[in-house]
Amino acid sequence: MLNEYDLWMQKRKITAAINIPEIVFAQDGGEITNQAVMEFTNGIQRLLGFSPKERININSGQTERQAVFLGLFPEIKKLVSFSCMEPGAEGFVIKVTETNIYIAGHDERGLLYGVFRFLSLLSLGQISYGFELGDTPVSPLRIINHWDNFDGTIERGYAGNSLFYKDGHFDFEIQRIEDYARFLASAGINRVSINNVNVRANAKLLITEEYLKEATVLAAVFRRFGIRIFISINFGAPYSLGKLPSADPLDPAVIMWWKNRAALIFKYIPDLAGFLVKADSEGEPGPFQYNRTHADGANMLAEALEPFGGVVIWRCFVYNCQQDWRDKNFDRACAAYNNFKPLDGKFNKNVILQIKFGPYDFQVREPVSPLFGALKNTRHIMELQITQEYTGHQIDLCYLPWVWEDIMNFDVIKTGNDEKNRYRVRDLIGPNKEGTANIEGLAAVVNVGLDRNWTGHTLAQANLYGYGRLAWNPSLTAKEIAGEWSALSFGASQAAQKIEEILLKSYPAYEKYTSPFGICFMVTPGSHYGPGIEGYEFSRWGTYHRADLHAIGIDRTAKGTGFTEQFSADNAGIFSDPSTCPQNLILFFHRLHYDFIMKNGQTLLQNIYDTHFEGYDEAAQMLELWKTLKDSLESDVYKSVLSRFERQLANAREWKDQINTYFWRKTGISDAKGRKIYE
Ligand code: GCU
Repeated sequence: MLNEYDLWMQKRKITAAINIPEIVFAQDGGEITNQAVMEFTNGIQRLLGFSPKERININSGQTERQAVFLGLFPEIKKLVSFSCMEPGAEGFVIKVTETNIYIAGHDERGLLYGVFRFLSLLSLGQISYGFELGDTPVSPLRIINHWDNFDGTIERGYAGNSLFYKDGHFDFEIQRIEDYARFLASAGINRVSINNVNVRANAKLLITEEYLKEATVLAAVFRRFGIRIFISINFGAPYSLGKLPSADPLDPAVIMWWKNRAALIFKYIPDLAGFLVKADSEGEPGPFQYNRTHADGANMLAEALEPFGGVVIWRCFVYNCQQDWRDKNFDRACAAYNNFKPLDGKFNKNVILQIKFGPYDFQVREPVSPLFGALKNTRHIMELQITQEYTGHQIDLCYLPWVWEDIMNFDVIKTGNDEKNRYRVRDLIGPNKEGTANIEGLAAVVNVGLDRNWTGHTLAQANLYGYGRLAWNPSLTAKEIAGEWSALSFGASQAAQKIEEILLKSYPAYEKYTSPFGICFMVTPGSHYGPGIEGYEFSRWGTYHRADLHAIGIDRTAKGTGFTEQFSADNAGIFSDPSTCPQNLILFFHRLHYDFIMKNGQTLLQNIYDTHFEGYDEAAQMLELWKTLKDSLESDVYKSVLSRFERQLANAREWKDQINTYFWRKTGISDAKGRKIYE
């Protein structure tokens, strides 16, 4: 039975195909090694109801006994030979013989990940005698971003209040933080930023002694699980906190202020990963205020952190949010590239740019940002959103690895269809290689809060797990991850199979009943849940679809705003031509008449009607499928998810009817299939 709190680490009695020895030989190591050993014994207890009793130092000279061996690769390989390759940074190897179990990490983190993977595979029934596996994370940086505010609210949070803060201060239950760190580490996460990128009110005080003292407690828990923390800072801190007249990054007083501040921060958190910075974005202060570049701003902070080994993660979500809807030449989609491509190569070695996956803002479907593939001399990572801001607020089910898989498969260069010549996003992910378009990892805004099940919608747990797995290995498919998560959470059962099926239906359904064909921003302004078809049409945010009675969409080709020209020449060609542009993005790149004939031979308008009817029907099917699980699930879980599916259906109905009515009113053209469209 599912205990929602335990996420994908359920306490479940399984029948193992192997014997678990009574003794653990472990290498002496630091606190991560100790944690790994503890996780092993606790995990065996959780799954088998008993655990190895004795822990003996691996160097005790008794290693001929039947045992579990936990340690670092050089030590373990003295005891057994592996046929798989030596693990790389943070990787591991696992080997099971008739008598022994060996788990060897490249480093302490690798050992911890190896233990967690062993336990998952044991729970999935995939461990047998002769088993051997070597695995190394593809992305060095697997980051979770919290948008938690110090008053306890979470920006774009849909699962209760903050795990970390309340009423302007740190306020956390240490056990819960430990459990959280365990879950994150078990999914492969190695960095967490602990506060919102919009650093307001008391969050500005996080870099003062009073607050840092408390932050050390949080950092210490995460540290045991191999997770280093980032702090989001406010670029204006020198004046808002330090009472200096400015925050000009070239002002010696400002430079000195940050150097001193960095020294103070690292005194408390010596292994701080660094700063995360949202500057000159949506009202946040930044270097533009002083006519300085983003390289000036980021490098100044990077110099302050450099002596302590910290990095600056600098967000590229920089655009003019005071746009005039009347001006058709200005296109927000162009902003990140325009702001950052000219600065390629101008950032210090410890600056990493964090680029949202698409040029807009976590929409249901957007093209991959053209900065990927274009930045060749600047370290960078990709930002995703696990929290369902535009994808249903964790009321609607929307299984996100589905769209992430598409992002990972996007070929940034596109040189024909020959596999050898493909440069997909996932091929670019890996350790920093200077002078290449390499992406050093992923960051994602998390979907957890104080709700008992962490994510509000129980099935949204799959998005958190999926993100971790995908960051570890960007070649995993959404289907593989869904299967793994469902079986870990619900046991190897028919229910798990159905849940996997529901997960896989959910993203296509959500896309269809909300905003298919890459149209974007038809949501209710502000909240971003439910339809608000013209909600952003006349606003300052620069996200318009410009539907009139003949056509819809923005021409982003060279003849229009020119956004397509930011891509590699081949991709620009593909996107610029409506006959080659992927249809799920066609309205992102083109302004099309409603009678434009799509690939299925139907008009664009008919496709709009069809997708909305279909999406609604698919939401109804998910609800029905869920109802078939009534007797196989814990009643609480069944009911809470059921009520979310009911709310989702109501939302889908609103989307379907409002959108269809809207276009019917614009065009006066009826649905060819004669379905009900309200007048
Ligand atoms: C979106 C979101 C904001 C957030 C911003 C960001 O615009 O709606 O709440 O602050 O992204 O990524 O910084």
